[in-house]
Amino acid sequence: MQRGNPMQGQTVKRVCSSPLLVAVAAVLTIYLIPSPINPKPVRLSDHLPVLEGPLTINRNLQKVTKLFEGQILGPESFAVGQDGSIYTGSADGRIWRIKDDTLTYIARTGVEHQDCGLYALEHVCGRPKGMKVDARGDLIVVDSYKGILRVELETGRVETLLDSFNNSRFLFLNAMDILHNGTILISESSTKWERRDYRYEVIETNNLGRILALDPETRRAWLVADGLYLANGMTLTHDQNAILVAEMSLSRISKIYLTGRQAGQREVLVSNLPGYPDNIKPNSRGHYYVGLGSVRFVGSSPLGSFLDLVGPYPAVKRTVAKLIPAAMFDVFLPKHAILLEISDSGSIVTSHHDPGASTLTALSEAFQHGEDVYVGHFKIPFVGRMKSYELHTEES
Ligand SMILES: *[C@@H]1O[C@H](CO)[C@@H](O)[C@H](O)[C@H]1NC(C)=O
Ligand SMILES: *[C@@H]1O[C@H](CO)[C@@H](O)[C@H](O)[C@H]1NC(C)=O
Repeated sequence: MQRGNPMQGQTVKRVCSSPLLVAVAAVLTIYLIPSPINPKPVRLSDHLPVLEGPLTINRNLQKVTKLFEGQILGPESFAVGQDGSIYTGSADGRIWRIKDDTLTYIARTGVEHQDCGLYALEHVCGRPKGMKVDARGDLIVVDSYKGILRVELETGRVETLLDSFNNSRFLFLNAMDILHNGTILISESSTKWERRDYRYEVIETNNLGRILALDPETRRAWLVADGLYLANGMTLTHDQNAILVAEMSLSRISKIYLTGRQAGQREVLVSNLPGYPDNIKPNSRGHYYVGLGSVRFVGSSPLGSFLDLVGPYPAVKRTVAKLIPAAMFDVFLPKHAILLEISDSGSIVTSHHDPGASTLTALSEAFQHGEDVYVGHFKIPFVGRMKSYELHTEES
């Protein structure tokens, strides 16, 4: 810079004011760009759960054996066939059979493409979620996008039973169960967000979830319940009089009665869970396994539980969603996996942990068949399996 330049003073001034200008411009830009989400204020609870009593930390989940590591991505949910074979679906849209510790490809729910498994193609390739073998021996599969499908297990033939409701195609179907009379019950997590955008659905905390029913013979579908907060896992109760629905984004499980004088009524079965409930499956002890997709408890995160902190402040949530790419939210997830066992009355009977998430980052589902408990999650690259006695040795 030349000495005595008449412009010098101005240059110095401009340099001094530019950080301020940049800051003002940045704030204005952040303020003006639309947020991808339209959140509601929610308060999950006044206090986070404490890991004591039935929630006391153990290392039971670290006993999981990893099967088919690297051969399968994201086995989320399981079903058992009439011959005892286990079925599951993967992130690339494929359905698999597990028999005699062999993994066999059965069918795919969407279109085949070399990049299936990637976020960008999920709605094309399909994303199989809840499944169950029906009385005919066919596998009924819920695909988040493709709808309710019937898979003939011998041939791999896939037939669509329902791909839309009320003239809207599905974006985010999740779990299912089948009543004794053949009616299929389905949980729909959102009517706004696609499954691949589940993080937005969680942070937005909207109640756009529903339970639908389908008569597979007539293909008639009807609404059982709506207004649910990210309706995720769902199971019939042991007596089939009601369903239990994980309302994931509110960290609670609701019960919706199907029959009797209470038909249509709903109640909150258990709330303020130590995490965000994913799939619910009955087990042989007369209880239910509830996988937690992520955890929230006293000490789970150095700053406190993120969704609990920002829940009441929609403006903060809107701004966070503008600034942080959704995929980066995962960086802040606590490293601790929990599987809960709850009773019909909603009390937490016991819990199984992987503190530090050394074996499992989180759980979508624990599915019991005989002595085996299959453990899945929508992002893990293996099928987890343990013996049910390994989960319950420490109890009387
Ligand atoms: C079907 O869609 C219409 C128009 O969007 C809406 O008014 C109606 O409530 C919907 N019915 C059900 C059962 O969702
Ligand atoms: C099966 O049971 C459900 C619940 O009680 C009922 O809504 C449905 O109509 C029944 N379906 C048939 C085919 O009877």
